Amino acid sequence: MIKDFTFYLPVKIIFGQGSFERVGEEASLIGKKALIVTGRSSTKKNGLLLNLQSQLEEKKIDWVLYDHVRPNPTNVIVDEGARIARERSCDFVIGLGGGSALDAAKAIALSAKSGLPIWRHIASWEEDYVKPEEALPILAIETLAGTGSESDNISVVTNVATNEKPGFASPLMFPRTAIVDPLVLLTVPKRMTAITGFDILCHTVEGYVSRVSHPVCEILNERAMEYVVEYLPEALKDEKDLDSRGYLAFANILAGISLTHSRATLLHAMEHPLSGYFGITHAEGLAALFPKWLEFSYDGYPERFKRIGSIFGLTGSDNTKENLLEKVKDFLKDIELDVKLSELGVRLDDPRVLARDSIKYMGGGVKNNPVEADVEDIVRILEASM
Ligand SMILES: [Fe+2]
Repeated sequence: MIKDFTFYLPVKIIFGQGSFERVGEEASLIGKKALIVTGRSSTKKNGLLLNLQSQLEEKKIDWVLYDHVRPNPTNVIVDEGARIARERSCDFVIGLGGGSALDAAKAIALSAKSGLPIWRHIASWEEDYVKPEEALPILAIETLAGTGSESDNISVVTNVATNEKPGFASPLMFPRTAIVDPLVLLTVPKRMTAITGFDILCHTVEGYVSRVSHPVCEILNERAMEYVVEYLPEALKDEKDLDSRGYLAFANILAGISLTHSRATLLHAMEHPLSGYFGITHAEGLAALFPKWLEFSYDGYPERFKRIGSIFGLTGSDNTKENLLEKVKDFLKDIELDVKLSELGVRLDDPRVLARDSIKYMGGGVKNNPVEADVEDIVRILEASM
């Protein structure tokens, strides 16, 4: 029996080689003055920022540059961007970059409209939480295929005071338009391709085995997993291979659509406190946790994990939990992401704090996992992943 579902995705997704050249035209359909939200250097070095600015000028769209985004964007960065957007009367936000720039742009769009610190819109567990009612429209231009942020309604912001790093969602954070140009993705260095590609794989696997998995997204996830398993190693072998870049970017869109509906699971819930406290790279944390998470979760949804096994090339009686684990470890070695948490700089002085944070701030993910975990389970997975 097919599960009941609702599917809502109000994002105009423009995918294709050369689609970056349509940025000005698409921006002109959204607003008259943009806050451009991007990082400090890469979009300057690769010329994309300059290209964007000249397209906006050609369409007579004013812009204000906010180039302070760093990996794991913080509430301070978001509040500053929102203040500038308000002071300079920007009527839309352009996110230019990878997941961090897009997540920051989406969060800025909320606070710029309400005038409240972003944390008031995130911390739903606090008494002074305010549900956002309005947001500036968002144009998302992806330069790094990994988080699915261009096609979902989710943002992740780290609180500098507490190291909390929750993911939060709002229908107001769906980008109005998302532009994904595989030609642009050719500029992504090899290590970054591996890292972001593995994040896509996690989104698809987790969306596929999530307890709230979604009938439409199940199909998207199967295909996205196939693409990542086949094309990520290809993209790493030949960095100029446009075909594999295109498939990864497409897989990322499918995974983003899925995340909106099927959500992530315990794996992402466990990783967020690690990058929140230790500043580690999100997908490296996922890679370090993945084998032990898989081992813990497999028996909760064996038929789905078997299907994942078949995507990794396992057939018949060989398609077992143990063999899938080996396949995953080989895949991680192949893409040079077979890491341990200790190598990333994680310390487990008090693992229960990390485990409690996973449950408190990413409780949805913990509940969605095929096998629900308590504090002790999470501590065991963390320790085994060191
Ligand atoms: Fe992720």
